[in-house]
Amino acid sequence: MRIRVFESPKDAGIYVATLMEQVILHVERPVLGLATGSTVIPCYQAFRSLADCGLDLSRTVTINLDEYVGLSADHAQSYHYFMRENLFQHLPTKPEESHVPNGVAANLEEECKRYDALIQSHPIDLQLLGIGVNGHIGFNEPSHSLLSRTHVVSLSEETIQSNARFFDTVKNVPHQAVTMGVQAILQAKQIVLVAFGKNKAKAVAESVSGSVQTNVPASMLQLHRDVTWVLDKESASLL
Ligand code: GLP
Repeated sequence: MRIRVFESPKDAGIYVATLMEQVILHVERPVLGLATGSTVIPCYQAFRSLADCGLDLSRTVTINLDEYVGLSADHAQSYHYFMRENLFQHLPTKPEESHVPNGVAANLEEECKRYDALIQSHPIDLQLLGIGVNGHIGFNEPSHSLLSRTHVVSLSEETIQSNARFFDTVKNVPHQAVTMGVQAILQAKQIVLVAFGKNKAKAVAESVSGSVQTNVPASMLQLHRDVTWVLDKESASLL
């Protein structure tokens, strides 16, 4: 694993955007696994600058990690909306295909199967990840076991509280989400996990240096051969 510690989220974002660019330049039909959350915003800002400078995305496919159950694509807190606002609407050339799980599918079980088939037919070249304060990746929450496939998950109280900052009130935070499982994440050829701030330091330290355990989902990344941890000084402070 590689660990890169940057002075600022802006500098880190530029580095991540460059890693994404390398994949797009060197792979015939690149597939980027994308994430949401405040941490990845500087990455998308830097990536947008590259796209403005001529990086061609017309052969690129994007596949997002997760979506809240019950939020439609036009809901301001949905991850569909996040991706449109923070990335897609700013790109001069749109990706060939962009996928986010459908959190309002009539049959969520079928939606999970559809998403798994999509991932299998589009192997992910680079998976971008944030990390929850409790060590979750995507919405794979700490538990005595982890599900490998795309599934509907009940969010932990800690995650609901942590993500409440994006909603008017904590009552509006959905209690469930559709998330890629750990299999799809670990099958990505390359993984880039980004974390900023003091409140991520414990999860980062446990994931990087602790034992591999399902109670710290990001510790599973120790099993992958090509992971880059992109940190700032605060998130790296317990390493
Ligand atoms: C959500 C997402 C995760 C993300 C996490 C961290 O829970 N499902 O993919 O890593 O938020 O968010 P933030 O970057 O805002 O701290």
